Amino acid sequence: MDEIKTRAGGKILEAKKTSPEYALFGEKIQKVYSQGGKNLDVLKGIDFKIKMGEIIAIVGPSGAGKSTLLHILGLMDNPSSGELTLLGWNVEKMKETEKDNLRNKYIGFLFQFHYLLPDFTLLENVSLPLRIQGFKEKHAKDLAAELLVAVGLKERMTHFTSQVSGGEQQRAALARAMVSKPSLLICDEPTGNLDLERGEEIRDLIWRIARAQGSTVLVATHNPEIAKNADRILKIVDGKIV
Ligand SMILES: Nc1ncnc2c1ncn2[C@@H]1O[C@H](COP(=O)(O)OP(=O)(O)O)[C@@H](O)[C@H]1O
Ligand SMILES: [Mg+2]
Repeated sequence: MDEIKTRAGGKILEAKKTSPEYALFGEKIQKVYSQGGKNLDVLKGIDFKIKMGEIIAIVGPSGAGKSTLLHILGLMDNPSSGELTLLGWNVEKMKETEKDNLRNKYIGFLFQFHYLLPDFTLLENVSLPLRIQGFKEKHAKDLAAELLVAVGLKERMTHFTSQVSGGEQQRAALARAMVSKPSLLICDEPTGNLDLERGEEIRDLIWRIARAQGSTVLVATHNPEIAKNADRILKIVDGKIV
């Protein structure tokens, strides 16, 4: 990680060296959406402490607020109130550009839909996050190839997105999420489009690669099979952790 440079890199690298005890620390996180003059209380004061390297499943019924919480923890949305410390950074005090850098550099995302670029090969797709961070093409491709091998796509690297199956697309998306060795991997229903067997494959790969890299993982899922083997399960019901 330390060789990666970004515009605000210096400051973020410094913070990372302190190696905070908690990857995520949240106090009284609230989220209120206002729609058509009405307020919708989605998160009603959520507290959590997540240690570095923990694998956490976030479960709860549809509409419970899982995605809303992950958007906040992935710095894609702001809480209405409450305090969030991410990798030792007090998010509230950060500028938007600092948050962008922190997100680009230290957080990987995996969603229900893969969002791979159709006109690129799997190797190019997985290289892209590193190219954006300024890695030379050869170095980026070497690292991307390593990840593609790790997710079992050695023979598919030069295929285009549309030339591989749904399960393979999702494995490539996982490789892309993990190629820059993020401190935090955020997965929102990562198996939602897959059958059980493909889903379990992805789950096992997430666990394996995250453990190997020492990444902290949050996986939101409504599937109890996917939550299996997590270090801890956080259950959200009616906007609160129960
Ligand atoms: N941008 C938004 N504006 C208004 N309401 C929203 C928005 N995003 C989500 N919601 C509402 O917040 C609640 C929680 O949604 P979500 O976090 O997606 O739940 P989950 O991921 O657990 O299914 C739902 O009632 C949903 O309709
Ligand atoms: Mg959701």
